[in-house]
Amino acid sequence: MKNKFIPVCEPYLGGNESKYVNDALNTGWISSSGKYVDLFEKMFAEFCGVKYATTVSNGTSAIHLGLKALGIKQGDEVIIPDFTMISSAFAVCYTGAKPVFVDAEIDFWNINPELIEEKITEKTKAIMVVHIYGHPCDMKPIWEIAKKHNLKIIEDSAETHGAEYFGKKCGNLGDIAAFSFFANKIATTGEGGMVTTNNIELIERARYYKNLCFPLSGERSYIHEDIGFQYRFSNVQAAIGVAQVEKINDYIAMRINNNKLFRELLSDIDGLTFQPVKENCKNVFWVNAMLIDKNKTGIERDNLAKKLSDAGIQTRNFFFPMHKQPAFIKIGLTTNESFSVSDYLYENGLYLPSGTNLSKESIEYISDAIHKIIKSA
Ligand SMILES: Cc1ncc(COP(=O)(O)O)c(C=O)c1O
Repeated sequence: MKNKFIPVCEPYLGGNESKYVNDALNTGWISSSGKYVDLFEKMFAEFCGVKYATTVSNGTSAIHLGLKALGIKQGDEVIIPDFTMISSAFAVCYTGAKPVFVDAEIDFWNINPELIEEKITEKTKAIMVVHIYGHPCDMKPIWEIAKKHNLKIIEDSAETHGAEYFGKKCGNLGDIAAFSFFANKIATTGEGGMVTTNNIELIERARYYKNLCFPLSGERSYIHEDIGFQYRFSNVQAAIGVAQVEKINDYIAMRINNNKLFRELLSDIDGLTFQPVKENCKNVFWVNAMLIDKNKTGIERDNLAKKLSDAGIQTRNFFFPMHKQPAFIKIGLTTNESFSVSDYLYENGLYLPSGTNLSKESIEYISDAIHKIIKSA
């Protein structure tokens, strides 16, 4: 038992990955052109139900590129959730704009639509929604606010491959969206990202900026009209991506089933709350995330994490809120404003091992360990 180790996530390469990678290697197409790049973009766009997609080097650059395509620049403000991964906020900073934080809602842990309007100023240009841990944001009120104030919507959909809101996939719920294919994501390419949109102008701007602002067509010259970025993605990684998208629906089903089993096995413990699913939403359960009520369970989150670690089970705390980030305090981006929900989520949230191919035996072992720890708390 002592030697057991269950990592918080492992990539699952369960299909044609090596076949396609070898093909890319054998043909010599290992850089940012090649059939797998084109195919991966096409397949992922179809999967999301959007017209266009372009690969990028990672999820953070996908968000940055999305903002760039929307024309976000110095002096602008972008509304983002306080409870998110740092990439969402950093990407806004890269454009020179200011991220303006909005607290989460307590039920599903996404941005609270009711708190958005009070943060809008004449500088606000966009709202960034981040679909946290696999659950789509409540888009209807956000669409209304964006329409009323003439704001763009960018989705940080890094964690929500295949999640749905009223039958529509994340990545197709705003003007432009960003995905990550980091090793812990439902579909992975090791490192990687994608920008999706239905707007031809936006995708062309994204393609232009991602490749150092080389003109999209015509003779290759070395004359550049704008400052661009080198966010290209390789055909070798795209080969992995194609194999992953071929199986993505199976992988989503596996994550959902794993989460279901955790809930069943832990349902008798009062004080553990898994991320719920809002009506008309499909949560893909990117991670097996839960809140621990220390008054009911008798154990604090950190103590539970430590004891699980002693049993060889790796976990992760929830995101550290944006308003508390030293990087932002240093530059005066935060005030004394309270963000009680994101503070609460951070202080009490933990996610359990969440890999797609987590075995039933591992889920039972983890659930058993939690029972024992809480019993003796
Ligand atoms: C919400 C969110 N946004 C952005 C990212 C950044 O993705 P990447 O690590 O591919 O840059 C992540 C990564 O986990 C994320 O969870």
